[in-house]
Amino acid sequence: MRKPVVLITGAGGEIGHGLIARLAAAGDKPIITLDLSPLDPDISRHVLREFTGSILDTGLLERILAEFEIDTVFHLAALLSTRSEFTPTTAHQVNVEGTLQLLEFSQREAESHGRTVTFLYPSSIAAYGLPDLETKAAAGRVREDDYNLPTTMYGCNKLYCEQLGRYYAKHYKQLAAEPQAGRVDFRCVRFPGLISALTVPSGGTSDYAPEMIHAAAQGEPYACFVRPDTRIPFMAMPDGVEALLTLAAAPRARLTRSAYNLGAFNPSADEVRAEVLRAFPDAAITWVTDVKRQGIVDSWPADVDDTAARRDWGFAPRYDFERAFHEYLIPTIRARYGR
Ligand code: SER
Repeated sequence: MRKPVVLITGAGGEIGHGLIARLAAAGDKPIITLDLSPLDPDISRHVLREFTGSILDTGLLERILAEFEIDTVFHLAALLSTRSEFTPTTAHQVNVEGTLQLLEFSQREAESHGRTVTFLYPSSIAAYGLPDLETKAAAGRVREDDYNLPTTMYGCNKLYCEQLGRYYAKHYKQLAAEPQAGRVDFRCVRFPGLISALTVPSGGTSDYAPEMIHAAAQGEPYACFVRPDTRIPFMAMPDGVEALLTLAAAPRARLTRSAYNLGAFNPSADEVRAEVLRAFPDAAITWVTDVKRQGIVDSWPADVDDTAARRDWGFAPRYDFERAFHEYLIPTIRARYGR
């Protein structure tokens, strides 16, 4: 019998980097990956087999299906929110049609091996759309089912794919003689902005925080593209990776929702700047608001209510704002850039 493996799509992205290192350290299952570009050598060495190609390439997915017995999928491949606004139809293809392909692929894996495939999906605070700053201020900690009116293509894509996943898990082919729902065990988190000390994001709109930190650590000036008072939730990457793994391992019976909010800390952009200046007093950080990107961030909540994740599967982030900076970001970034 073949050994079950984990499939990670978009493996070369920021979450993939952290996830592969962490999965490899745990060492319990071989990892196979799918990404448009070849992986960095520092992560590819942890991988049993690396496929370079598109999640939309059905021939490639067929080959993976034929060759591997996959019991867990981390479907991380996506175009982020800023990039998606420049190419909305491509975003829809990758983010929605790509996810549909992976769900169908997982259904077929599960049917062929007679075992459930656990499907982990990162959604986002971009699934929310607050209509104006007054509503955002009054809303406070937003619950999963409130304000589901995203203004971005990416947010629409994520919100819809949450529903697609729930469909596969609960209602797939409900009129068939033998309904096949539940073979894909879909589990989803709505991530806040993620900040990694090892990689920088590309094409997102929460990028101002990680960009500010990485620029300062490299001694480069940074013009922040949102107002100082801008406030959205963020999380340190190790907590994001840990959340995916904890949710993947949670007993199915404990899960009362398919998509869970996750929160950790929610500084204003000015508070991020102040922390960065404490670590790098010479950092040259200025404010040059991009009103269009500002509009996107203003539509995202200032904070999220993650009670359900804490209650159902024990979500407990290790890093608050202080600890994220002092115990993870600053020391790791200093080591990375040698400063
Ligand atoms: N960080 C993402 C973005 O900015 C949101 O999920 O697009």
